[in-house]
Amino acid sequence: MKKVGFIGWRGMVGSVLLNRMRDENDFKGYEPLFFSTSQIGQNGPDLGSGALPLLDAFNEKLLMSMDILVTCQGSDYTKEIYPKLRASGWKGYWIDAASALRMKDDSIIVLDPVNRNVIDRGLVSGIKDYIGGNCTVSLMLMAIGGLFRENLVEWLSTMTYQAASGAGAKNMRELVAQMRVVGNCAQKLLDDPAAGILEIDRTVSETLRGNELPIENFGAPLAGSLIPWIDSLLPDTGQTREEWKGFAETNKILATSSPIPIDGICVRVGSMRCHCQGLTIKLKKDVPINDIVGIIQNSNRWVRVIENTKEATLKSLSPAAVSGTLDVPIGRIRKMNLGPEYLTAFTVGDQLLWGAAEPIRRILRIILEYPG
Ligand code: HSE
Repeated sequence: MKKVGFIGWRGMVGSVLLNRMRDENDFKGYEPLFFSTSQIGQNGPDLGSGALPLLDAFNEKLLMSMDILVTCQGSDYTKEIYPKLRASGWKGYWIDAASALRMKDDSIIVLDPVNRNVIDRGLVSGIKDYIGGNCTVSLMLMAIGGLFRENLVEWLSTMTYQAASGAGAKNMRELVAQMRVVGNCAQKLLDDPAAGILEIDRTVSETLRGNELPIENFGAPLAGSLIPWIDSLLPDTGQTREEWKGFAETNKILATSSPIPIDGICVRVGSMRCHCQGLTIKLKKDVPINDIVGIIQNSNRWVRVIENTKEATLKSLSPAAVSGTLDVPIGRIRKMNLGPEYLTAFTVGDQLLWGAAEPIRRILRIILEYPG
């Protein structure tokens, strides 16, 4: 029976992964073993037949006895452990939610509803490293992968509205803590029907600029504000790493022969775990809008075209509506005034599900089912 080792299963992405695997009854047909970097010997998760002690995630010999390793532990762990295992001749499959190995020549970024053909080719050719993509990229491709598949996209600009969860669990807490401070500072005035809106606004603005707001993680107020900067600056480009990934990872996922230009500005907003994106798409030709809607709607089971009405948009096209679900709604679809080849749309997706855990859950299944 194959042995699958799980590392980093207790963090935010790892927990979402485990929950999804439980929901889908995924822990069967192989022996799951749970590792820890810090709590070796303590009880692992109970999958129905009792909890086993956690194994040492730095024990190379033990790790090398696994057929497949699945890690949500993060890039630092990957950078430390992965090269040692490969250098010692480990030939197992490495499945990773972190970014460290994404752009390696012989790794595949996995998003099987979009690039199953690339994954299948990789398995046949003996590729052993399967890495989850950047959340924004994966969610964009879940929404408009059909347009790429039909070779309709000349270029794409994506302006993002990214949730706190993309920055980590501590950031989610900080966002809610900021909301509390803002709510508290305005409470008295809000409860007084005679209080003027400018007074409320002044109080909130003073609080945002004052030193009561916790900003250790974001470095700036997010509640009642936004942060148009995600990740580090790429030298000499003015572009952030998050913005660069849109181009680099999309083209790698799709295995394009000539790269499709993609760029935009990535912005952190005060939603909890859903990333949104406003898309501007330059099509290669003028395609009727009904055909476009059909291509998008039929590209996978999870994408859902939302009618371009206020009612449908408010009901279905927001982080509040999508959070915790696998749905990837896309709405506000229309041709732009710029010309018949210019399309705009807005899409929403759960950053922890399709943006992180779900592609990892699914590639594990695909690898386990692969006969090679
Ligand atoms: N880098 C993303 C973000 C999440 O900061 O929202 C991870 O893909």
